Amino acid sequence: MTAPDISDAGSRAETGSSVDAGSSTAAVSLVDVGKIYGKGTAAVTALRDVSVRIRRGTFTAVMGPSGSGKSTFLQCAAGLDRPTSGAVRLGGTDLSSMDETRLTELRRERVGFVFQAFNLMPSLNVWENITLPLRLAGRRADRRWVEEVVDRVGLAGRTKHRPAELSGGQQQRVAIARALVARPEVVFGDEPTGALDSVTAKEVLTLLRDTVDSMGQTVVMVTHDPIAASYADQVLFLADGRIVDTMAGAGADRIADRMTHLGAWA
Ligand SMILES: Nc1ncnc2c1ncn2[C@@H]1O[C@H](COP(=O)(O)OP(=O)(O)OP(=O)(O)O)[C@@H](O)[C@H]1O
Ligand SMILES: [Mg+2]
Repeated sequence: MTAPDISDAGSRAETGSSVDAGSSTAAVSLVDVGKIYGKGTAAVTALRDVSVRIRRGTFTAVMGPSGSGKSTFLQCAAGLDRPTSGAVRLGGTDLSSMDETRLTELRRERVGFVFQAFNLMPSLNVWENITLPLRLAGRRADRRWVEEVVDRVGLAGRTKHRPAELSGGQQQRVAIARALVARPEVVFGDEPTGALDSVTAKEVLTLLRDTVDSMGQTVVMVTHDPIAASYADQVLFLADGRIVDTMAGAGADRIADRMTHLGAWA
């Protein structure tokens, strides 16, 4: 077991420095998480002894070379997949003890997702797409709250439009609103700006940053892009399934430099 190497210790660098899953300030914590896909000679180890604690109200970027385990990390942290070993906690809840039904409920009520492909329902308008998770959970949409979220993501006036009538950035903002509307404890994004041009990506990143700063949202985002990662409070670097470094408050140049070195090892 290897503890994350905290080379940039600072007030915001405590992620990973202590595994204190019981702390009330942890939004998500992983303790000695391992993930092996497949069996026997086909087995692939995607995560090894990953321990990290992500504080509430922070923006975390997860970076690393292709195949380093970023998506696996996100899926295990979000309860979309189960680790082979170790424990994942969301708030105070241990996900490993939950059966599939409870895990599905947890994903619906306590977690939001934003993917590279916006995954909107083409036949539903913006308002219907945003409120779909609430309806699936059998919850009534609080109109004032939905309006506030729509406003915040800059889609007021577009709620009657279908996804095909919106730009890529607007579609991703619908997906972010959909993720926020259930007031999730954590919003997870896997390359949420991966399909966007740099100007539009910047808008989406600014919006994610704003949900952290003004709504106290916790955001965990996988990205390949050092500029995207520079919007985060802290960056976790994965290589070969392990957290090999964390950085707090780093600019894009420093992050890119770190990535170059990781790439050399991969
Ligand atoms: N369903 C699966 N079955 C078998 N192996 C898998 C599966 N999903 C991922 N892997 C393997 O696990 C490792 C980590 O994959 P993962 O998708 O987490 O990487 P990643 O860092 O997200 O990569 P990328 O940047 O290319 O998206 C890789 O070796 C991958 O081939
Ligand atoms: Mg991936």
